[in-house]
Amino acid sequence: MERTFVAIKPDGVKRGLVGEILQIFEKRAYRIVALKILNVTDEQAQKHYEEHIGKPFYPGLIDYITSGPIVAMVLEGENIVNEARRIMGSTDPNKAEIGTIRATYAQIMQRNIIHGSDSVESAKREMSIYFDESELCE
Ligand code: RTP
Ligand code: MG
Repeated sequence: MERTFVAIKPDGVKRGLVGEILQIFEKRAYRIVALKILNVTDEQAQKHYEEHIGKPFYPGLIDYITSGPIVAMVLEGENIVNEARRIMGSTDPNKAEIGTIRATYAQIMQRNIIHGSDSVESAKREMSIYFDESELCE
């Protein structure tokens, strides 16, 4: 069993898509190990996106992720890191396969409504930014 970190970004929360998106993962029978709504601090945002520091879109990305509450979660299941990203679709909603979350609910890369870790190592690192060990339900 593998775990991944998923976040519904501020635009997804503002648009009232939390329930629908949770349902997609629940219907797939993934287990919710942790779940909360929170305002991302500048420090958390910088840690989360440290791989993108210096890129042209970085300042906009930090503004975006701190623009309102996100819904952060840890999900568990078979091969979930890759599967969750397949369910979300490509970073650019215009290139995401029809039926994926980004293709269904988003139009542009800078407002692509959801985040998913890109590896097991990233997942561990990212969940530690948003959750204490004690918040993960066994
Ligand atoms: P995420 O980390 O949010 O799950 O997205 P990802 O792995 O599919 O994409 P990544 O390369 O990690 O980029 C992180 C987020 O930065 C924004 N972005 N904008 N050229 C651009 O304007 C650009 N490139 C990336 C997106 O919001 C992307 O989700
Ligand atoms: Mg990424």
